[in-house]
Amino acid sequence: MLFYFLGVLGGFLVDLAAAQSTFTPARPPSLPLAVKSPYLSTWFPAGSNGGNGGYLPGQWPSFYNGQVTGWTGLVRVDGSTFIWMGAPKDFETANQTSYEYTSTKSIFTIEVDDKVSLKATFLSPLTPNDFKRQSLIFSYLQVEISSLDGSNHDVELYTDISAEWASGDSNAVAQWDSGTADQLTYHKVWKQNQQAFSEVNDHAEWGNIYYATDSTDGLTYSSGADDDIRGSFRSNGKLSNSKDTDFRPINSRWPVFGYALDLGSVGSSTTSSLFSIGLCQDEAIQFLGKDGLTTLPSLWKDYFSDELAALSFFHKDFPNSSKLSGELDDKIESDSIAAAGQDYLILTSLAARQAFGAVQLVGTQDDHYLFLKEISSNGNTQTIDVIFPASPIFFYLNPELIQLLLKPHFENQESGHYPNKWAMHDLGAHYPNATGHPDGQDEPMPLEECGNNLIMVLSYAQRSQNTDYLKQHYPILQQWTEYLVEESLYPADQLSTDDFAGRLANQTNLGLKGIIGLEAMSQIAKLVGEDADAQNYTTISHDYIAKWEDLGINKDDDPPHSILTYNNRSTHGLLYNLYNDRLIKANLVPEHIYTQQSNFYPTIKGKYGVPLDTRNPYTKADWEMFVAAIASEDTRNLFISDLAKWVNETPTSRPFTDIYDVETGDFGGGIGFMARPVIGGVFALLALTA
Ligand SMILES: *[C@@H]1O[C@H](CO)[C@@H](O)[C@H](O)[C@H]1NC(C)=O
Ligand SMILES: *[C@@H]1O[C@H](CO)[C@@H](O)[C@H](O)[C@H]1NC(C)=O
Ligand SMILES: *[C@@H]1O[C@H](CO)[C@@H](O)[C@H](O)[C@H]1NC(C)=O
Ligand SMILES: *[C@@H]1O[C@H](CO)[C@@H](O)[C@H](O)[C@H]1NC(C)=O
Ligand SMILES: *[C@@H]1O[C@H](CO)[C@@H](O)[C@H](O)[C@H]1NC(C)=O
Ligand SMILES: *[C@@H]1O[C@H](CO)[C@@H](O)[C@H](O)[C@H]1NC(C)=O
Repeated sequence: MLFYFLGVLGGFLVDLAAAQSTFTPARPPSLPLAVKSPYLSTWFPAGSNGGNGGYLPGQWPSFYNGQVTGWTGLVRVDGSTFIWMGAPKDFETANQTSYEYTSTKSIFTIEVDDKVSLKATFLSPLTPNDFKRQSLIFSYLQVEISSLDGSNHDVELYTDISAEWASGDSNAVAQWDSGTADQLTYHKVWKQNQQAFSEVNDHAEWGNIYYATDSTDGLTYSSGADDDIRGSFRSNGKLSNSKDTDFRPINSRWPVFGYALDLGSVGSSTTSSLFSIGLCQDEAIQFLGKDGLTTLPSLWKDYFSDELAALSFFHKDFPNSSKLSGELDDKIESDSIAAAGQDYLILTSLAARQAFGAVQLVGTQDDHYLFLKEISSNGNTQTIDVIFPASPIFFYLNPELIQLLLKPHFENQESGHYPNKWAMHDLGAHYPNATGHPDGQDEPMPLEECGNNLIMVLSYAQRSQNTDYLKQHYPILQQWTEYLVEESLYPADQLSTDDFAGRLANQTNLGLKGIIGLEAMSQIAKLVGEDADAQNYTTISHDYIAKWEDLGINKDDDPPHSILTYNNRSTHGLLYNLYNDRLIKANLVPEHIYTQQSNFYPTIKGKYGVPLDTRNPYTKADWEMFVAAIASEDTRNLFISDLAKWVNETPTSRPFTDIYDVETGDFGGGIGFMARPVIGGVFALLALTA
């Protein structure tokens, strides 16, 4: 009896194991599928709070905010149809056995009816040094199928997208078309009432979505109501090559845009099919710059004659593009492992697409910019204290990208569009409008942003040797420096970048940023031959840093540590602005401060990390990695392994939040930050070694 019982239990466990997937190098809260810009951002929720664990068959992909972007995969094997992606009604799901991610790819392996193996690779290319490719807002889906059991099987492959990709309002009327060009077949979908520069639920309300594949023998296509199209595939293994012309709301008999591919008899050799998905917008940004208010085109427009030329280039570029992405994957992998081991790779390779997924190249080849959306926190355009925490990935991969992020800020402020003497917080209250703040009423973070600009400008100049750039902007850099001379030693009652935690006077970490900003200006002055300024600013920064140490460090505690505010010695906080001293190689802050902080953090850590400060039980992942990058090896590894553990275990199901509770792993303070570019800050260590 006992033996019999154990036998059944054993069998059950084996079955359960067969139905489970491995996740390598980790199981992220949300798995990146097509992530290429603020408006092409489709993910797969995995964490238990809203996700299904990370199983592609059986749940819908969604926009970063959780709104479904219908994307379906079906496969018909010897006449029986199964789901490999999404959650269409009334189909059986196939079994996912593995998920793996690299910096540019998400790869799912799925077993279908014990007969065939299907590998779905989602590649969102990253080419930080190749702007022609980087400017394209497109992503690949490659599907490879082979026999699993040694026999040949009749296989038809199906995929569709819904019109949900074309608007954030599912009551909006969609329009669509299908066609062929250059040996490609494409579906094109758009919101009928195009509203340039407008958003609904963070989706773009203008532009055209494309879903394309090779015009091979055996390809059929159709547009129509979801149940009709998928039902037709189930019955016949093919579609009718017809177009539904009843343009209607996205949620009215859900129009979908499908392909069926007859792969014939599939044996042990792998068949491969390629799909490209993307967004084409002629105009990308409204910008108040040197010529007044203008609109800026998407940069790809300057490389290609029209949308179909761009689509065709992208689709046919797959061999070269995947090679380039493979090289980037390898670089990030080997550099991350060399810098801090496998747990560090879990973080960097998850962050890469997310950081680049908040930016887009606009303008022309002669005059271009990189624009950034402050995703999910408030949608601001080009927020300086978001660019700053994101900057390590850009410094590491191509410092020129920092110059392109700061360029519209210089242009706007140097043209006299901003009345305040300190640096502006952002370039517009909502992306894609970069219309500035001529009334000076931006969110006030004067000390934070002056310091950020000076530090990023110097770090860029050190890496690029571009001293003309420093000369060109010297007057406004000096204007911001004067503000720091007055305000950085005793910071007034104000917000820091961590605005969700509220205002405080005399913030130790904020003062440190200002003082390092002064030292940055001294080095900038030296680089452009303004030796008197260089001497003056370094004298001031050294004077301030000695005073700062008395004000901002509790030396009597065991172990000693920095305090959150000069006025309360029983506080503490992550002293992440110390990172800047290393970033610009200033050696302004005495070494014992570094040692002291490294010794202190482990004494206050929670399950998944070290709290941001004494006010709340949450932390910031980006700032943890800034602190880790300059910590002792043991403390650094502690931060990294705790955050890697969080990635695997967090119940959140949105793209990598940067604010989480150090004990529960859930969103910190109920603040739903997600998909923010600041997660590029996990590259802080690599930005120092690059
Ligand atoms: C999924 O796996 C279970 C357990 O091994 C099996 O019973 C089922 O037939 C599989 N389904 C498919 C579609 O492969
Ligand atoms: C951008 O500005 C335009 C007006 O020029 C406005 O219609 C649009 O709603 C704004 N977009 C966002 C996302 O706020
Ligand atoms: C793709 O790579 C091949 C082989 O290196 C090269 O000959 C070709 O010019 C490349 N195509 C593009 C568009 O870069
Ligand atoms: C800042 O700290 C200094 C020194 O302790 C104190 O004199 C000053 O009043 C504080 N400022 C504010 C705004 O609390
Ligand atoms: C040094 O800078 C301070 C603050 O800007 C200024 O008041 C002072 O005149 C400068 N001194 C010299 C010698 O340039
Ligand atoms: C000082 O900070 C501690 C720790 O956060 C807090 O409990 C205390 O209330 C603070 N004291 C004052 C006077 O604000």
